[in-house]
Amino acid sequence: MSTVTQDIHYVRGNFLINADNVKYMAGWLDQGGEESQDLIYADMMYDDLNFRWIDYCYSLLKDTGSIFIQTDQRSVAELKLEMDEIFGKDNFVNWIIWPYDWGGRPKRAFGRKHDDILWYSKTANYKFFRDNITVPKKTAGTAFDKSGDGRKIPTDVWEDIGNFHTMSTERIKGVNWQKPERLIERIVLATTETLDRVFDPCMGSGTTAAVCLKNGRYSVGIEIEEDIDEKAVERIVVLDNKILDSKD
Ligand SMILES: C[S@@+](CC[C@H](N)C(=O)[O-])C[C@H]1O[C@@H](n2cnc3c(N)ncnc32)[C@H](O)[C@@H]1O
Repeated sequence: MSTVTQDIHYVRGNFLINADNVKYMAGWLDQGGEESQDLIYADMMYDDLNFRWIDYCYSLLKDTGSIFIQTDQRSVAELKLEMDEIFGKDNFVNWIIWPYDWGGRPKRAFGRKHDDILWYSKTANYKFFRDNITVPKKTAGTAFDKSGDGRKIPTDVWEDIGNFHTMSTERIKGVNWQKPERLIERIVLATTETLDRVFDPCMGSGTTAAVCLKNGRYSVGIEIEEDIDEKAVERIVVLDNKILDSKD
């Protein structure tokens, strides 16, 4: 039996845990976590080539579930090969590009300005909710509008998400790598229903939990850094209070 947790916080359906994800997942599986999660979103450390944690993710995922792993050019090639091995090439669904334009640029190369998000399902029977994520069609009302509702599924290049601005009201002070809620929200809404379970093994500032709280999903997030109280936990408590206040 593995040793599990250091520090667990719970905010209305969302567990925020300070632990090492590999150790935590091993313990979770020992305690019956197998095939319990509908969606796993992992925004990994981009230069990390140790993928041992992905085997555990496979075991935690339901047969109808999906996993999205976000990285960039530093590890996407190695990640793709590893995911093909663990999930099977047949279960590769999309290679999503999130383009942005901020930060420095190399002087003798093109600017490296996008993240790569690999989506795999566990089986062909994965959940997908088209109506949650469609965008307006420019050709609405024409012969190209096969669905007839003037809307379409976005392509795998998510330029409509846009940059994450440093002045954004979502911004959590002192956090690197924070992602925009609308990026993770598209993933959550595309692949889960209300009350489904979402797991984020690289929680950071708790963006996945924020999206889950706003959209009525349960979540478990794990972060190895010890300052989760001032970052993810405070963010989710403040958000929960805001949601409750808005209902008064
Ligand atoms: C790219 S950031 C995630 C940012 C997050 N998506 C957000 O919006 O704030 C990756 C996070 O994974 C955490 N991490 C790295 N190794 C970990 C491990 N073994 N267990 C848990 N968390 C880990 C890092 O400390 C970092 O906060």
